Amino acid sequence: MIICIGAGPGDVGYLTQRGVDLIRNADVVAGFEAVLNVVRSVVPATAEVVTMGYRDQIEKLEQVAAAHHAGKRCVVVFMGDIHFSGFQYLERVERACGHPVETLPGISSAQILASRAKVCFDETSFITFHRRGDLTPFKRHLVHVLNDGRNAIVIPCPWDAARSFMPPHIATYLLENGIPPEHPTEVWENLTRNEAEWHGTLAECAHKEFSDMSIMLIRTLRPMSSQIEPAEAK
Ligand SMILES: C[S@@+](CC[C@H](N)C(=O)[O-])C[C@H]1O[C@@H](n2cnc3c(N)ncnc32)[C@H](O)[C@@H]1O
Repeated sequence: MIICIGAGPGDVGYLTQRGVDLIRNADVVAGFEAVLNVVRSVVPATAEVVTMGYRDQIEKLEQVAAAHHAGKRCVVVFMGDIHFSGFQYLERVERACGHPVETLPGISSAQILASRAKVCFDETSFITFHRRGDLTPFKRHLVHVLNDGRNAIVIPCPWDAARSFMPPHIATYLLENGIPPEHPTEVWENLTRNEAEWHGTLAECAHKEFSDMSIMLIRTLRPMSSQIEPAEAK
């Protein structure tokens, strides 16, 4: 048996009770070191812990898949929620296993941000740049989201200089693509741990630096509720 579970955004208090039960009963618990550290206090002493990094994840996932095929209860832990900015890793797990695997949702950094910043999901789009492959369609989509009067919650890309697309790069790209500089913008770091928050405009964000563990909110200038005609609002 194998299941992928969302570990929550950093503090173990945000791991779901179902996630705790699955980890407590696991023979094998696998994941990236930073994510394993989130759940470490609930991993049983009897479990084999498989720690992986970007370079060895394929071999390590094959090791976990072999344990799963041998009948062991395996859990692969993901940062936050699997279903936001986690699918490329999920695909690697499924490729190693040779079949689709079950997922257990977790609490995403996007949900904590929405709660801290009081932003309504219904009027917000979620975009991640923390992904392999061409970012261009996702950049264009972000421009459309803001032009459509929606908020955007954005996970930046913290990788090497060639690919890095962090909040100042995102803000600069949006300004170059005609998005007004006065959009209220927030960047939240290390949510549920040593939190830091920054509030300003898109123009100001273009000149700020943030750590890798950051998530961005760009608020619309035209809240969707104010776009509803009085007759429609009834
Ligand atoms: C591969 S994405 C995974 C996101 C995760 N699936 C989620 O639902 O939050 C990793 C990025 O998410 C953002 N992130 C994750 N946890 C965070 C936190 N506690 N505070 C701020 N940003 C966070 C950071 O930008 C980090 O580099």
